[in-house]
Amino acid sequence: MIIFEHVRCPLHRYTFSVKPIRDWVERSCEGTVLNLFAGTTILQVNELRNDLDPEMPADFHMDALEFLRSWKGPRFQTILLDPPYAYRKSMELYKGMVCSPFRQLKDVVELCLEPGGIVITFGYHSIVMGKGRRFELERLALFSHGGAIHDTIASIERFSPSITPGSI
Ligand SMILES: C[S@@+](CC[C@H](N)C(=O)[O-])C[C@H]1O[C@@H](n2cnc3c(N)ncnc32)[C@H](O)[C@@H]1O
Repeated sequence: MIIFEHVRCPLHRYTFSVKPIRDWVERSCEGTVLNLFAGTTILQVNELRNDLDPEMPADFHMDALEFLRSWKGPRFQTILLDPPYAYRKSMELYKGMVCSPFRQLKDVVELCLEPGGIVITFGYHSIVMGKGRRFELERLALFSHGGAIHDTIASIERFSPSITPGSI
């Protein structure tokens, strides 16, 4: 069973500065959290923060893919992915800082995630990690911004190494 939530709220380029989204994400995180595209908002969770932009409040200012490949610390129970959703948005909203190649990034997420841990992703897709990487979709939230603005989709997928890899 997949739990589905629908929330009406404004859109902001720093997603978690919108209170209903921040509340949802804080409720959804489990244990230690890697906030890989951390942005401006400090979350009330046990988070390690990374953002390429040196002006953002973060513990690390690395490219997200490089961070995942080089991390030698303990694995996390939650990994938060809230990258720029499109190349044009990187240019217009995030000082030209472009997300690392996302497929490569998804392929190495499990290096930093505990078995049984979750990946929470914000963007335009409902399935992100997928069964091919042995993740199961548990929850979806649709943040509706009204008017002509696209909704934001958030998904929670759990890393279940024992499941048979599937196509999505
Ligand atoms: C959609 S914003 C989200 C930020 C955060 N979740 C928030 O609500 O404030 C995307 C963030 O990703 C950062 N970013 C862009 N490219 C990156 C990269 N390759 N590696 C790490 N961070 C990156 C930007 O600086 C920006 O703060």
